[in-house]
Amino acid sequence: MRLLVINGPNLNLLGRREPEVYGSTTLADLDEQVGDWAAEMGIEVETEQSNDEERLIDLIQTYDGEGIVLNPGALTHTSRALSDAIRGVATPVVEVHISNVKTREPWRALSVVADACVRSIYGRGIAGYRNAMRHLVNRAAMPFETIRYGPHDDNVGDLRRGGGGDLAVFVHGGLWRQEFERDTTEGLAVDLAGRGYTTWNLEYRRVGLGGGWPESGHDVLMALDFVPQLGLDAKRVVLVGHSVGAQLLMWAAPRSSTKAGIHIALGPLLDLSAAVAADGVGAPESRQMLAQGAPPVVTPSGIETVLVHGDTDQIVPVGRTIAFAEEHGLEHHRTGCDHFSLLDPTKPEWSWAVERIAVGR
Ligand code: DQA
Repeated sequence: MRLLVINGPNLNLLGRREPEVYGSTTLADLDEQVGDWAAEMGIEVETEQSNDEERLIDLIQTYDGEGIVLNPGALTHTSRALSDAIRGVATPVVEVHISNVKTREPWRALSVVADACVRSIYGRGIAGYRNAMRHLVNRAAMPFETIRYGPHDDNVGDLRRGGGGDLAVFVHGGLWRQEFERDTTEGLAVDLAGRGYTTWNLEYRRVGLGGGWPESGHDVLMALDFVPQLGLDAKRVVLVGHSVGAQLLMWAAPRSSTKAGIHIALGPLLDLSAAVAADGVGAPESRQMLAQGAPPVVTPSGIETVLVHGDTDQIVPVGRTIAFAEEHGLEHHRTGCDHFSLLDPTKPEWSWAVERIAVGR
């Protein structure tokens, strides 16, 4: 697989340009990292930067690889020509922004290229480029359909038909922040689909985009209730939640008419208010959400639940999960990794989860 990473106007100034917004990584550093990430993913990559709209259009029109990662800089907000170029080619293009364009000046929230792109990733710093590359790799791994389960833009999920009788529903985390989306759990969903499960990787509304508490919970509940309408006739429904995604599932699953067989909760955040108060967990957005209303502390309710947590988790302290598991008599698997390694299908934690899911298949 070959990808092209294109940076648009003023991104040659990275490292010097408004470092408080864009960080200290230079374009040369970024290009080097992109090369390292490609090697890690087993793919080839080329990088380009231009301040010139015409050059960017030519690059998009003539590229003959499998995908493009594009940070169009300020052309994002104005260039219909760039948007048409993306629409004009079959190559999937992922739009990336280092900063959170949705929370800066209002004019930055509008992207005229977003509709032409297969995905937009913003507000994750330089890591967004890596996530965009990974998304292109995952998209290519297996065909999928994006199925809508509700009226809001974010009420969708990617369905990968892996065969077999089991359906696995994935709910991502990200501390309720709008910039964290379902691409974070996509690697696991692709992996499990490759093992003969049908997987549905959900999106839901997050803080700043109509989500928060209780809306995000309602979205997940709506998605679970929608499962029969997927027309799969699933023998067993498996739930996989990461971080607050696990919390949303613990709240929604017992309320849903879809009866889940097992919930694998990866690095679960089970009590946001307590975690914020005691451990300082929570970005500004999740704190803002708490000020409006806190999600309830979930209590286990009949669905077989397995908590998986890493000792070096810097986001959600492992001790909280173990204490919760012991208090409620829940099965738990304590492991050596951090919060995000639980999202990596090549890690032993996921192999453990896969085996655990297979029990009862
Ligand atoms: C940017 C955001 C744009 O609004 C801005 O004009 C840029 C960089 C980003 O990466 O955050 O040049 O695309």
